[in-house]
Amino acid sequence: MDKLIIEGGRRLSGTIRVSGSKNAALPILFAAILCDGPASLGNVPDLRDISTTLNLLETLGCQIQKADGRCSMECRNLHSEAPYELVRTMRASVLCLGPLLARTGRARVALPGGCAIGARPVDQHLKGLERLGASFHIDEGYIVGKCKKLTGTRVAFDMPTVGGTENLLMAASMASGETVIENAAREPEVVDLANFLIACGANIEGHGESVIHIQGRESLHGCAYDIMPDRIEAGTFMVAAGITRGELLLENCPHDELKAVIAKLAEMGMEIGRLEDGRTRVKCDGRLDCVDIKTQPYPGFPTDMQAQIMALMCLSRGAAVVEESIFENRFMHVQELLRMGANIRVSGRTAMVKGVRRLSGAPVMASDLRASASLVLAGLAAHGITDISRIYHLDRGYESIEKKLNAVGAAISRQSE
Ligand code: EPZ
Repeated sequence: MDKLIIEGGRRLSGTIRVSGSKNAALPILFAAILCDGPASLGNVPDLRDISTTLNLLETLGCQIQKADGRCSMECRNLHSEAPYELVRTMRASVLCLGPLLARTGRARVALPGGCAIGARPVDQHLKGLERLGASFHIDEGYIVGKCKKLTGTRVAFDMPTVGGTENLLMAASMASGETVIENAAREPEVVDLANFLIACGANIEGHGESVIHIQGRESLHGCAYDIMPDRIEAGTFMVAAGITRGELLLENCPHDELKAVIAKLAEMGMEIGRLEDGRTRVKCDGRLDCVDIKTQPYPGFPTDMQAQIMALMCLSRGAAVVEESIFENRFMHVQELLRMGANIRVSGRTAMVKGVRRLSGAPVMASDLRASASLVLAGLAAHGITDISRIYHLDRGYESIEKKLNAVGAAISRQSE
């Protein structure tokens, strides 16, 4: 297992290019199962979760070729078992359920276990797909699903679930008749998936809103499509500029999809603006103030940025409340930040953060993807050396983060533990 060694206290300055979105690429890769022709994807980030997904797709019988930055896939002779050893490493594997049922009428997908941030059930996915005519039972830890033909109908989610909306979008695209998804997730990654499906011939309206209409198609063809930039990676680099009191220019930054994050960072005292050439300039040259945060479904403040902005607040003036309303256990970074001298008190889903003058480098342990990003950010600003172990969590969602940060003035080295 690898670890990162960070020498803190260095101001970041320079230009960083934002990679393709992990959370848009994953559902789009699974959606290629629906296509009866080749799909060619651009701007696919080079991440552990992406290689896990490509392995799973090959296990399902897809042919995959990667050349000059594009990923081409053809899914002809599919079989329908997604094995536990792959699914347990990546919960998003459950996104193959909808496409497999739509394309083959059957699916056998390992039940994803829980993960560090919460139980993360898939009951909404199954309930929605049952509404379309699928039936499921659990056998030896696997979700076994089958359907004669999926038939469009009205599906109302109990809560706006990103994965549930994505599974239903994919299944409904090839169901007979119209499906209406109510209380749909509005995240930009859901919109990117819908745009990919439309490029493959699907008939979808209302994506990005809470009610989505899908007219099913007999079949979908392949297409060439470029994945949207990663708004959470971009937001993480914005915090990196703030926590080191530096200045960064972000290329390919999805500025419009980060409005809630930019508003909060500006409220704290950061300067964030879009340049004529389309790059986003992020600057912080003074003290910042703590601000209250409550994570919400899009377009609210994203839960995937909660750990990162908490690290920034540890070194800001005053005190503020961070409320995590999406997941039940998404404060795993707190114990590690406390080891670095932060002042944070957790009660249930709420954390009270009081700014301190300085953080000290320390040996800390990554626990999940965004918690590890939070520790990297704290390490950039801490006095002394921060040693972050188990950074395989980080590699799941950030493309060579130490290379990108070292190119703008950080001092991070990767060592094997
Ligand atoms: C997606 O997870 C993202 N992952 C997560 O990003 C992100 O945090 C989350 O959406 C919320 O924005 C990918 O896109 C691969 P949900 P997902 O279904 O789809 C409950 C990261 O760091 N729920 O929107 O699993 C669930 O427990 C990852 O990149 C049910 O109860 O999230 C949670 O409380 C972490 N039953 C809430 O809904 C269900 O069937 C939102 O979950 C489904 C969800």
